[in-house]
Amino acid sequence: MGLNLILRQLHMTKINLGSNSTKSEGWLNFDLTSGNGVDLVGDSRYLWFVGEDMPEAIRASHLLEHFPPCEILSILKLWHVALKPGGTLIIGVPDFDYMLREFRKEPMKFLSFWKDHERLLFVTLYGSYYPFRDDSNNLPFRHRVIFTEESLTAILTDAGFTNVQRFHPKSVAENHGFDDVMRLPLSLNVKCEKPL
Ligand SMILES: C[S@@+](CC[C@H](N)C(=O)[O-])C[C@H]1O[C@@H](n2cnc3c(N)ncnc32)[C@H](O)[C@@H]1O
Repeated sequence: MGLNLILRQLHMTKINLGSNSTKSEGWLNFDLTSGNGVDLVGDSRYLWFVGEDMPEAIRASHLLEHFPPCEILSILKLWHVALKPGGTLIIGVPDFDYMLREFRKEPMKFLSFWKDHERLLFVTLYGSYYPFRDDSNNLPFRHRVIFTEESLTAILTDAGFTNVQRFHPKSVAENHGFDDVMRLPLSLNVKCEKPL
């Protein structure tokens, strides 16, 4: 069954890429790895399923940092092509400025990886499992790029998006119904538009 058909049947014109198990009413969840809450399995670098029924919103919470740096501009351009004109792209990534601020307050807290590898610096910089599980199973979870508000805005602008606005969701409702990483203080969240 083609995704256009699935989208029509489910009345979903909103796609949540790299969803993991996080769900919200009205969104189609797409992830590289299958699991609870994933509606469709596939690679977000190839949105082969989007046809004439273009989505009005594409959301990627803590996905972009998992791609090689040389691919990110072309991935964003592809999402731009896939999105309906006037549609919204919503992105959340680890906030490098936040990490630096927290790190400077108490450096050893974030460098004592032999005591606790889930400490913020490792989770945001390398991905949750990277320091102790550098194997192929871990590849989808490894981080490869870091962003600041300025650099994220610049690359989104280069990809053709306009009106890039940072936002800080205070509730699940303000986070488009998702209870996911975008709600954490370490998250740099922006919304932007594909011009009409
Ligand atoms: C850190 S989790 C984020 C989960 C959720 N969006 C959140 O914010 O809580 C990253 C997710 O991206 C998925 N992922 C990694 N590379 C992907 C790709 N190329 N295409 C689709 N999903 C991918 C992983 O399988 C994982 O579920």
